[in-house]
Amino acid sequence: MKVVAFIGSGRKGHTYSATELFLKKLQLKGDIEYEIVPLSDYNLQICKGCSLCLNKGEELCPLRDDRDKLLEKIENADGIIFATPNYSFDVSGLMKVFLDRFGFVFHRPRYFGKVFTNIVVQGVYRGDKIVNYLNFIGKALGTNVKGSCLITREPIPEKRQKKNDEILENHSKRFYKQLIKKGLPSPSIFELMIFRLSRNGISKNLNETFKDYIYFKEKGWFESDFYYPVDLSFPKKIVGLMFDHIKM
Ligand SMILES: Cc1cc2nc3c(=O)[nH]c(=O)nc-3n(C[C@H](O)[C@H](O)[C@H](O)COP(=O)(O)O)c2cc1C
Repeated sequence: MKVVAFIGSGRKGHTYSATELFLKKLQLKGDIEYEIVPLSDYNLQICKGCSLCLNKGEELCPLRDDRDKLLEKIENADGIIFATPNYSFDVSGLMKVFLDRFGFVFHRPRYFGKVFTNIVVQGVYRGDKIVNYLNFIGKALGTNVKGSCLITREPIPEKRQKKNDEILENHSKRFYKQLIKKGLPSPSIFELMIFRLSRNGISKNLNETFKDYIYFKEKGWFESDFYYPVDLSFPKKIVGLMFDHIKM
């Protein structure tokens, strides 16, 4: 199993060490190969907002940076970790630049079956919002989101240390279990809603000149129940049909 961890801190500080500890704990549980990817070692340019990637295809992005190298690392991994410090009550600027560089994947999800988690390291406060945000990002990428670690360092770092170790240990167990469990999860009502409303909007408002339309068509998503084959329960089938008929 390959796990890749992207670090959104510009230094080898607390986010890096918490992530490394998590990965070492994970490695003790089974056959895990890991790579730590400090985003600051890569050339990531700030999205200029032209929307070419969204509308016409990511290959047309005018920026020349390491986006595709980083995406390849995600493609080759079974497990993905996004780790960020809490800076000004949010992900670090570096992490946000990284996320914006593959905004097109949120339109055309693809990482089904890969297990995702996030590690947020904060001084004191508001990391829970960042954790929720990154969990949502994981879902939007198509991954199977398996919890998160919120590491708080203050006000007394020594007292927190034991608790933080426990958080990392317990979460590494959960993440490992999910990694070795094969198969794709049945969507929640919310995930089903996102899929059905996206394709409803794409089929009604776009056409063959838009990449999202072409992608959905190629994948057979205009006819399928979900992004991948699933047995929907009867109530979910009904709810899915309701979303299909919402006027967009
Ligand atoms: C510019 C800056 C802003 C920060 N903002 C917050 C914050 O809003 N909330 C918080 O709890 N901690 C905040 N912190 C503390 C960091 O989240 C904390 O020190 C974290 O461990 C830093 O991770 P690093 O060592 O990987 O850089 C901030 C730190 C910096 C440098």
